[in-house]
Amino acid sequence: MSEKYSVRIQGKNADIAVEENQSILDAALRANEWLPHSCTQGTCGTCKLKVLCGEVDHHQSPEYTLTAEERADGLALGCIATPRSNLTVEPLGNAGDDGVPHYPLRDYEGTVVVLEDIAANTRRLVVELDTPMAFNAGQYAELLVPEHGVARQYSMANPPTETRRLEFHVKLTVGGLSTDGWIFSSMVVGERISLRGPLGQFNLVNKQDEPAILIGGGTGLAPLKSIVQQALAEDLVPELFLYHGGRRREDLYDVEYFRELERRYLHFHYRPALSEEQWDGAMGLVTDVVIGDFSSCKGMSAYLCGPPAMVEAAVKALKRRRMAPRLIFREEFAITPAATAAPAVP
Ligand SMILES: Cc1cc2nc3c(=O)[nH]c(=O)nc-3n(C[C@H](O)[C@H](O)[C@H](O)COP(=O)(O)OP(=O)(O)OC[C@H]3O[C@@H](n4cnc5c(N)ncnc54)[C@H](O)[C@@H]3O)c2cc1C
Ligand code: FES
Repeated sequence: MSEKYSVRIQGKNADIAVEENQSILDAALRANEWLPHSCTQGTCGTCKLKVLCGEVDHHQSPEYTLTAEERADGLALGCIATPRSNLTVEPLGNAGDDGVPHYPLRDYEGTVVVLEDIAANTRRLVVELDTPMAFNAGQYAELLVPEHGVARQYSMANPPTETRRLEFHVKLTVGGLSTDGWIFSSMVVGERISLRGPLGQFNLVNKQDEPAILIGGGTGLAPLKSIVQQALAEDLVPELFLYHGGRRREDLYDVEYFRELERRYLHFHYRPALSEEQWDGAMGLVTDVVIGDFSSCKGMSAYLCGPPAMVEAAVKALKRRRMAPRLIFREEFAITPAATAAPAVP
């Protein structure tokens, strides 16, 4: 049996029990002690914490996220580091009350009820959970890839009012374990799957005065679809702009769904954009289309999701249009570094 360590989170005065093979972040979220995090796979650095007392195992924490100097200074990645002794840690990011409800991380079982091709190399996967999962619009779950002991992140596209039926949009990665090796090959309707969630801090849950620009590349549309549905249902933003970028018409999906929302809500605007095929809609890279539509983004907020290069380009474009950096929120669909594949659920 693995040893249990006690980890004190400075500033929260919380002591949590952590298994020796369990990450500090995983244990904290399961104990409903919120710690800042984004990717849970060692690529973003949002979960950095200072180890004030005790020893951790850094496993394969990548050098580009946690430098040798940072390790020497006692920093660790909460999503990867596991305890080697009792610990006292202090999160670097804001772990206090951020005005957002947080829900505990839990393991779930569910049944695949829909698996359909919705765009080029893109599938909609709907899972009916045995027990409901509370989450915020914009968060994601980790699907456990059968027989591989690894997890992959997929954002919920359904609104948080639907706690039993989770919708995911999955893009094929050629040679990828979860997509090529499972969701696009052996997965069938009726299959039982395991997942854990909710995770992430990319969300829009409270009423805000600023109009919001949502920009998604490919399946980066998934969390934005959840956000759009909740924001419209609860009237969270004065004006909402959704941009979805693809190369060709076959890359777009749910076009009619969003056009229908546009007809129903006058303050919702939907702008799909294609970069490589002529059509009767917006043309060009989605970030260029946004730049063309707004001479200034001052006083607006943005929610960006998709491949890291698209998210970076969008951040630059919005800053050029004078959007305040603190109002730019992002979720990058970074590929799991093979060596740091997320540890299995303890
Ligand atoms: C927070 C977050 C949310 C996400 N949400 C979504 C979402 O809603 N929809 C979505 O489609 N994606 C999403 N992703 C991306 C998703 O989690 C996966 O990364 C993606 O589906 C690829 O997983 P895979 O297992 O198929 O590929 P992987 O097995 O991770 O492979 C990725 C690439 O690395 C290569 N590779 C793998 N192993 C090796 C090796 N040993 N040596 C060299 N190369 C190797 C593969 O050939 C492939 O090209 C999200 C990612 C994050 C971080
Ligand atoms: S959440 Fe740990 S590195 Fe991203």
